[in-house]
Amino acid sequence: MIIYRPTIAAISLDAVKHNIQAIQKKVGAACQVMAVVKANAYGHGMAQVAQASLEAGAARIGVATVDEAAILRDLKIKAPILVMGPALLEHAEFFIARNISAAVGSIEAARAFGRAARKLGKKARIHIKTDTGMGRFGFWWENLAALLPEIKKIRGLHLEGCFTHFATSDIADYAYTKWQHENFKKLLDSAARQKIRFDIIHAANSGAIMQHPETYHDCVRAGVMLYGMLPDQKTKPTVPIKPVMTLTTRLVEIRQHPKGRCISYGCTWQTPRASRIGILPIGYGDGYSRKFSNKGQVLIRGRRAPIVGRVCMDQTLVDLSAIPEAQIGDRVLLWGENELGVLKVEEAAKWMGTITYEVTCALGARIPRVYIK
Ligand SMILES: Cc1ncc(COP(=O)(O)O)c(C=O)c1O
Repeated sequence: MIIYRPTIAAISLDAVKHNIQAIQKKVGAACQVMAVVKANAYGHGMAQVAQASLEAGAARIGVATVDEAAILRDLKIKAPILVMGPALLEHAEFFIARNISAAVGSIEAARAFGRAARKLGKKARIHIKTDTGMGRFGFWWENLAALLPEIKKIRGLHLEGCFTHFATSDIADYAYTKWQHENFKKLLDSAARQKIRFDIIHAANSGAIMQHPETYHDCVRAGVMLYGMLPDQKTKPTVPIKPVMTLTTRLVEIRQHPKGRCISYGCTWQTPRASRIGILPIGYGDGYSRKFSNKGQVLIRGRRAPIVGRVCMDQTLVDLSAIPEAQIGDRVLLWGENELGVLKVEEAAKWMGTITYEVTCALGARIPRVYIK
């Protein structure tokens, strides 16, 4: 298909592969890497990122929903796929039929997966999810030990994994992660005493991969760092990751305004002098946040141009007054890194008052993803 719209997210699959290999190097050959590709691979394209990650040596894929897992199975991806979030128990048979691993966080779920497995005459591959302090999904760790004997007895279950998730592994203060990890280890000790074995134990997300090697166990779940982004501005960058997405567009129009003109909806910005205003064909309809209004910047001819007025659904306006050489058709860097320069997605996240995850996840389907080496 010919793409006429000049707004494009270039996705470097080489950078994905580089990042998987860098993570593998960091965690060591004995530890598996699960590539977390939920939410369309944090906006980068699930199928392509999953494939590239597996080619680079990832052992497993992590997703959030059973539909995401089914899409990957339809693409003939054979690697183990874990749905890391909770599922409706009425879908247990579907998990088993498609050989999709389920996260189980309650005794009712364990029983339902056992029943479904026996009905289908197959094993249900489950990962016991324990809440050690995240306060989201899973058996509270102190309650789980007493339930393990019953789980062990349920016929039809293959205890493929046991895992937990950290709430603060990306920040500098280790105290809370340490407490969570101690809780997890106590639970694992209890399982070992009861002779309950899991194929793999896993806990570390990107923050823990970067900062807490003692949490690696048999597998790590790499999400945001797989895309070359830090989970938090303050996370210690101990793995040399490369940015994967570069978002660019082109100047489609330039207009000259006298001093005192209103620019965009709500008249939130008025030209302080005679001004050259450029029009970029991207807006919040593409997931380019309205929070960038009067705050964000873009890179044109190596220089920063401020976003002026409100970001519209399809267009964004930039003040080109300080870049007189800018011309219609010029390429514009919105975030990422290429021959136009560098504008980090971390900076865009700051303008948006959020985390990098949300910046790339928000990019809509209207923006073509172009896969480059
Ligand atoms: C259970 C689970 N594991 C791993 C990840 C990956 O986390 P990160 O993107 O911080 O590496 C996520 C993402 O939120 C998750 O929900």
